[in-house]
Amino acid sequence: MVLSPMRNLLVTSALPYANGPIHLGHLVEYLQTDIWVRYQKLRGNRCIYLCADDTHGTAISLRAQNEGRSEEELIAEMSESHQKDFADFGIEFDHYGSTNSEASREICHEIWAALREADMVVEEEVEQLYDVEKGMFLADRFVRGTCPKCNSPDQPGDNCDSCGATYSPVELIDPVSTLSGTRPEIRSAKHLFVQIEQLHGFLEEWTQSGTLPAESANYLKNFFLAEPLKDWDVSRPAPYFGFEISDSPGNYWYVWFDAPIGYIGTTKEWCDQHGEQLADWWKNEKTEIHHFIGKDIQYFHTLFWPAMLKTAGYSLPTKVHIHGFLTVDGDKMSKSRGTFIRAAKYLEHLNPSYLRYYYATKLSAKVEDLDLNLEEFVARVNSDLVGKVVNLASRTAKFVASPGLSETYPTNDEGLFEKFAQQGDAIAEAYEVGNFGKAMRLIIELADAANPYVESNAPWELRKDPEKTQQLQDVCTVALNLFRTLCVYLSPVLPDLAAKCGELLGDPITSWDQSKKPLSGTPVAKFKHMMQRVDAKRIETMIEESAAENEAAAAATTPALSFDDSGEFLSENPIADEIAFDDFAKVDLRVARVVEAHEVPEARKLIRLILSLGGDERRQVFAGIKAAYQPEDLVGELVVMVANLAPRKMKFGVSEGMIVAAGPGGKDIFVLNPDEGAIPGHRVM
Ligand code: 2FM
Ligand code: ZN
Repeated sequence: MVLSPMRNLLVTSALPYANGPIHLGHLVEYLQTDIWVRYQKLRGNRCIYLCADDTHGTAISLRAQNEGRSEEELIAEMSESHQKDFADFGIEFDHYGSTNSEASREICHEIWAALREADMVVEEEVEQLYDVEKGMFLADRFVRGTCPKCNSPDQPGDNCDSCGATYSPVELIDPVSTLSGTRPEIRSAKHLFVQIEQLHGFLEEWTQSGTLPAESANYLKNFFLAEPLKDWDVSRPAPYFGFEISDSPGNYWYVWFDAPIGYIGTTKEWCDQHGEQLADWWKNEKTEIHHFIGKDIQYFHTLFWPAMLKTAGYSLPTKVHIHGFLTVDGDKMSKSRGTFIRAAKYLEHLNPSYLRYYYATKLSAKVEDLDLNLEEFVARVNSDLVGKVVNLASRTAKFVASPGLSETYPTNDEGLFEKFAQQGDAIAEAYEVGNFGKAMRLIIELADAANPYVESNAPWELRKDPEKTQQLQDVCTVALNLFRTLCVYLSPVLPDLAAKCGELLGDPITSWDQSKKPLSGTPVAKFKHMMQRVDAKRIETMIEESAAENEAAAAATTPALSFDDSGEFLSENPIADEIAFDDFAKVDLRVARVVEAHEVPEARKLIRLILSLGGDERRQVFAGIKAAYQPEDLVGELVVMVANLAPRKMKFGVSEGMIVAAGPGGKDIFVLNPDEGAIPGHRVM
């Protein structure tokens, strides 16, 4: 591959949503990008790595509302926690912004104006479900209801889990808002659409031009066959947390409209801070633009985004690097199994370098899922890094006596340094194309070649013989130089290890070319511990803690029903003396239906009820509920009666039982009704 001597590269990772923490799934992409960026910088290319929090949309508003604070307060806190997690994993951005910035707002308006100018925006009325109680339109995921195709109850708003049908939430039978539990109503609102079909030819060509991995280019072919490309709904009516559309008051840009614009907004902020021109990065054909994203969001980045850029006169991405999803031990990350692991939780137990290296061994340029196999994770790190790489230094550095490395690099190194230097191009090529797995294999093969050299020259033996001081120094000089070359090659992946190597040999690793020339005659610092073996027990604990934490979080987010029940009545009417179950069982409580209800003119408090216990069984009961009920309201109701109470002769007739009611009496009396489904005659226990 012929590379120009110095490239200008602008690199981004997808902007993480501000409504959740960074987890190991996210880290696949940020580590992948960070490694690639570090590699580019090491090669001497001019490279900036930009990212930001993706802050707009309904999910953020709802969370802020639930937590009783403003969206701004929430996103500020999330940004800080995201940036801390990234920094703790050694992910080094040149600038980390927010889509809720002035710079992003400005560019949203500019791109919007260009879309209007190109006559690509149309207005359409859209029917959507509206939650009256919450005062908002409901995104699909906040609605459930009965499938209009197969009648399965409690299905999601967009497609049925039972029969697989897709539909619009307005088609659901008996829809329920998951936000308020109420039935939403259908309301229609104006939405703005971008007609990307106008760029059909351009997009078809661009997506097939080698900018995307082959798998993605093929996947996208289908969209162009099914012409025309569907208009893209880019607006949401108020209330919505986002930017209001200048020429359409009361409407806001949908979060996916302003999210990628955040890439440019963040670049603008960086430019302003560094005295640079935005156009040099986004309107300059000499600048390469590289996006790293997951396969779930390729649709946005390979159709809508290039359409927006093209229309507004910005550069198009040079490459969109697309990765698959993370699985853990072969399965989707699972909160209950504890394999949904937050970045911060991982760091409580394990060294970030382990994960950086392990992911690197698994990453290729293909759009494929990456499995974090925990057993393999331990084995790889312990065997490759601790056993083969760090070992080279730990078994030799301590034997280098003052003044340090041999005055000249020994000629009898079995050709190892030369071999190491020569592999540089193949390793570089693998990094360049994103095949980090291959790069790691090539590097570990070199480590495999170096270790037998140390083994056979046994510096621990040489040091026992005062006559062999020079030989000892030479062996250590060779081993430490080989170690240093490995550290140069590994430095995009393991910046910490590279820094420690730099300290040991008094020569910080800053350039790929340091792999080409050995060090000699320089002092060696006291060897400090470089990397511990992975302790598998810590992984177990991490998983257990994650599971417990996720369980607690799930319990906490289950909508807390808040009741405001006073304990006054109970304290004035304490629970009666305990009885034996047998005593209770003597009371035969039954469901009964009120078939007649009559005033008893002579009685102030009573209503005469005729109750049916099913079939022909009837009972007459005088109930003291006149102050609270009208007789006609009771007819047809199911009630609970004490069916085996001895009949009582009253002034107005015989009462053959009692109906059960709650409350202190008078107007505050509440007849108990069984839930739907009970029938007269059912025993009540
Ligand atoms: O899928 C996501 O997590 C989005 N927040 C990614 C946005 S990427 C870019 F377009 F901003
Ligand atoms: Zn269905």
